[in-house]
Amino acid sequence: MSIAMIAAIGKNRELGINNDLIWHFKEDMAFFRQTTVESTVVMGRKTFESLPKALPKRRNIVITRDSDYKAEGAEVVHSPQQAMELCENDKVFIIGGATIYEQFLPYADSLYLTEIDADCPTADTFFPAFCKTDYHRVFLKQSEENGIQFSFVLYQKNK
Ligand SMILES: NC(=O)c1ccc[n+]([C@@H]2O[C@H](COP(=O)([O-])OP(=O)(O)OC[C@H]3O[C@@H](n4cnc5c(N)ncnc54)[C@H](OP(=O)(O)O)[C@@H]3O)[C@@H](O)[C@H]2O)c1
Repeated sequence: MSIAMIAAIGKNRELGINNDLIWHFKEDMAFFRQTTVESTVVMGRKTFESLPKALPKRRNIVITRDSDYKAEGAEVVHSPQQAMELCENDKVFIIGGATIYEQFLPYADSLYLTEIDADCPTADTFFPAFCKTDYHRVFLKQSEENGIQFSFVLYQKNK
C-alpha cells in the first residue's frame, strides 16, 4: 500500500473554516481530481459531510466513531488502522480533514500540497506541522487565480 496525503494550505497551514474550504481554485480542484482519480480516498466524517456526495471514480472510505453511521457511496470504518487494513492493496490518498491528516502523517510517504500565498486569520482547522527536512521537496507548478498565487509541491519522505 502507498499512502499519500493531498491538501491545499495557506501560509499558516490553514485548511478550513466552518467545515468548508477557505479557497476554491479551479486549477487546484482539477489537480485534486487528476491526482486522486481511480485511487482510494480516505477522509474523516466531517470532510465527507462537507462534500456534495461521495467522490466519483474513486473508492471512498469514511472514518467515524459512530457505529451506526451510513455514508452513501462510501465504506465506513471506525479507526485509521481499520482504514489501512481495508485498503492494504490500494493506492491511497488521505484527503482530510485536520484530524485525519494528523493521524496519518507518520504513515504517509508523500504529501501533495497546494501552497497558497495567502492567509486566513479566521481559519479553524490546520494541516499538521511537519519536519520539512524529513522530505525531498519537488516543485511541480505555479498558478494564480483571483490575484492569489499558489504552488503545487510534492514532498517525498526520505527513505
Ligand atoms: N484544504 C484542504 O485541502 C482540505 C481538505 C479536507 C478538509 N478540509 C477542511 O477541513 C475541515 C474538516 O476537518 P476536521 O479536522 O474538522 O474534520 P475531519 O478530520 O474531516 O473529521 C473529523 C471526524 O473524523 C472522525 N475521526 C477522527 N479520528 C478518528 C479516529 N481515530 N477514529 C474514529 N473516527 C475518527 C470523527 O468522526 P465522528 O465525529 O463521526 O466520530 C471526527 O469527528 C473542513 O473545514 C474541511 O473543509 C480542507
